Amino acid sequence: MGILTLSDLAVAYGGETVVHGLNLDVSEGELVSLLGPSGAGKTTILKAVAGLVAPARGDIRIDGRSVRGRPPEKRSAVMVFQNPLLFPFMNVAQNVGFGLRMQGVASEEARSRIRNILELTGLTGLEERRVNEISGGQQQRVALARALVLKPSILLLDEPLSNLDANLRQQMRDLIQDIQSETRITTLLVTHDQSEALMISHRIGLLLNGRLRQVGTPKDVFQRPVGRDVAEFFGGCNFFTGRIRQAAFGCELGSFPAPDTHANGQRLTATIRPEDILIGAGSEYPISGRVRKTSFEGAATRLWVDCGAVSLVILTPHSGLAPGQSVRLRLPAEKIRIFPPE
Ligand SMILES: Nc1ncnc2c1ncn2[C@@H]1O[C@H](COP(=O)(O)OP(=O)(O)O)[C@@H](O)[C@H]1O
Ligand SMILES: [Mg+2]
Repeated sequence: MGILTLSDLAVAYGGETVVHGLNLDVSEGELVSLLGPSGAGKTTILKAVAGLVAPARGDIRIDGRSVRGRPPEKRSAVMVFQNPLLFPFMNVAQNVGFGLRMQGVASEEARSRIRNILELTGLTGLEERRVNEISGGQQQRVALARALVLKPSILLLDEPLSNLDANLRQQMRDLIQDIQSETRITTLLVTHDQSEALMISHRIGLLLNGRLRQVGTPKDVFQRPVGRDVAEFFGGCNFFTGRIRQAAFGCELGSFPAPDTHANGQRLTATIRPEDILIGAGSEYPISGRVRKTSFEGAATRLWVDCGAVSLVILTPHSGLAPGQSVRLRLPAEKIRIFPPE
């Protein structure tokens, strides 16, 4: 099994609340990422689940049973820390087997479990190596193996890729994804890196200032942010205001079909992602603008375009545009996201 339920979870340090009333369900076999900037409370949440900090309020259930007050070793939730400390005087196999020894698992069974986990994490052949004789990426895998060998219901990974360089990061990301889908271990992963979360997760919980702001599939949170703060976190930068009247959103950039909502007539903020704005010619490109600045980013070019009172940022594969040039733009209505009133 492996079902994690956080209800109304709050955590405080010395009277200061850093996690506020969190509700989150992680289903069996699911990989959910907690994504948020540094200081948002991500590590604190993992520690609360692992039993390393006591919640101020709320409940944590694993497989339907509250684990409040239960010590870490009796929770079946194992945390892999951002800077995992391995035992330097032990070899790889001894490090991986340490928890099993503590649990009193018979040596025959322990040996076979260690062998299987070393194979799963690509460490076969390194059993006898001291952990200070292996690379940083291999050490990270030892830390992962050390957690997995305990067969926890819930795996808690705190920024497992942040200490690795770009190449190793991709390898480790693939490894985590492969292991997770092979073992179907319920996983709560923490990261500050949006692309990492988008690539690896079944669902993402976006954490801002200790509050879960939006939970959804990677596409949900990226394409359908619930508010400006969420859009900004994912690099959104085009915000404009308007009003919905008679099933159309009217703003300085034109009028766009929009669902009739209870927010009729109210001033609302809308956004469109830089890569969703189209540049072209002809009457289907009704907005005229002038390029103010360009920045070549390799696969795409970023343009800052002034359109009357509104300034838009556009990411386009066209690299031939220069400051001062006139362009015509189209904002596909289906790509415009109108935020509900605050
Ligand atoms: N042991 C602690 N004592 C006091 N404050 C802490 C402690 N650990 C973390 N904090 C504070 O709690 C907030 C959330 O921290 P943390 O959970 O580590 O965030 P994240 O992992 O998202 O970077 C931060 O403001 C941090 O300074
Ligand atoms: Mg942290």
